[in-house]
Amino acid sequence: MIRSKTRGFLVAVTAAMLMVAAGCGGNDTSAADSAAKTAITAADRAEAQELFAKRCAACHGTTGMGDGPGAMALTPKPRNYRDRAWQRSASDEQIEKAIVYGGAAIGKSPQMVANPDLQAKPGVVAALREIIRGFGR
Ligand code: HEC
Repeated sequence: MIRSKTRGFLVAVTAAMLMVAAGCGGNDTSAADSAAKTAITAADRAEAQELFAKRCAACHGTTGMGDGPGAMALTPKPRNYRDRAWQRSASDEQIEKAIVYGGAAIGKSPQMVANPDLQAKPGVVAALREIIRGFGR
């Protein structure tokens, strides 16, 4: 009886310590920062470049200005990602969420379609976010 209670307590303490360690890895715990910490490999970046050209540029434009041919008929139109004010207003988490789950997931246009196949590829999603951030520099 006493032994199993002690073990239960130890499990709880260990779990709590693990949660603290995972949460406070770098002194900050915001989701945006954890998104920014996703490791991005060279292969992820290459895949993201290819994906952006194939799936995203049609609407977002090759230079991120929201002026791709597919954007003509859209209301609202995709943002101009060169707009610094927009860049400051959007969190990394928001950007990544829109990419994987679609615009509606962040309260934007449902015409921004979800990319569920990218759910299993966080590195590629992070690299796409990097591309979008890159337009603002
Ligand atoms: C069919 C056209 C279309 C395609 C294809 C498309 N988007 Fe979008 N995207 C949009 C529209 C429209 C919005 C929403 C604009 C709004 O509501 O302000 C949007 C919003 C976004 C947002 C949210 C930005 C914000 O305003 O907060 C991100 C990030 C994004 N798209 C990235 C991508 C990426 C990466 C791809 C390719 C994997 C992609 N989009 C493909 C049309 C498209």
